[in-house]
Amino acid sequence: MNKTLRYGIVLAAIITGINLFFSTISYIIILNISQNAFTELFFIVLAAILSASLTTYFIVAASPIFKEYLTTFRRILRLESLSHPLMVRLSHEAPGTYHHTLTVANIAARASKAIGVDSLLTRVGAYYHDIGKIMDPDFYVENQAPNKNNHDDLLPQESAKIIIEHVQKGIELAKENHIPAEIINFIQQHHGTSTVNYFYEKSKQSTESTKKADFKYSGPKPQSTEIGIVMLADILEATVRSHPNPTVQEIRETVNTIIEQKINEGQLDNCNLTAKQFVKLRRSFIESLNAIFHQRIQYPKKTAKN
Ligand SMILES: [Fe+2]
Ligand SMILES: [Fe+2]
Repeated sequence: MNKTLRYGIVLAAIITGINLFFSTISYIIILNISQNAFTELFFIVLAAILSASLTTYFIVAASPIFKEYLTTFRRILRLESLSHPLMVRLSHEAPGTYHHTLTVANIAARASKAIGVDSLLTRVGAYYHDIGKIMDPDFYVENQAPNKNNHDDLLPQESAKIIIEHVQKGIELAKENHIPAEIINFIQQHHGTSTVNYFYEKSKQSTESTKKADFKYSGPKPQSTEIGIVMLADILEATVRSHPNPTVQEIRETVNTIIEQKINEGQLDNCNLTAKQFVKLRRSFIESLNAIFHQRIQYPKKTAKN
């Protein structure tokens, strides 16, 4: 259920509560102290005035908040169509990242549905999470040609710096294009404070003065369940894709290992995920990744005789 709908239901429940409260109070007063038709009428009118005034006051006070949520909801809904100029640019200038993005969005939205959080917000957040890669697409493995690696001539620190920068570049690009703050949070938090391990390990092999801080994203860690789900779907998609032909068992192990790793690193500390939800998330990720990456049994090709 999305936030707008939740706020609508809460608003309706409070208004109903106010009306119910005053109707009950007036009924009790009438039963106990009314002596004639005039007193009875007086209390009924008084209760109706109080009830109507408080309801009106509450609606007027709450309407800007409700309107803001409704506007944000409409803007997010519009971004789901993928026709936004930024998404069109991503598909042309970084096709590998665009493909990765759509896969992450499908995996994450399905996982969100499985645990009952906002799957629309998750999907749209995932669409934009790597939008900053538009600026230097060739430095990301998913956009590189098989025998060409732009990092070959760089120091590990320089490579990590370029990779980490896709977060800040994405935030700037999104702000310039008036992307809502709720979506910018996904860009900013999807790597949390994790480390660019590949280049960190590479640097450690060549120099003893390697500082871990040079290889870390600046965060913050995901601050919502939806962003935590995108963080997991993002790493899972990239990891499973790097296996040539992952088996069902390998996919299950990858999901379990990566979720444990992120929990131990504390990256999911602010996502309000329960043990029960983690079980459902694991199941959903395994099902999605199997459906996308697991090679099915090859059927024999038809011969002329067949
Ligand atoms: Fe990223
Ligand atoms: Fe990504």
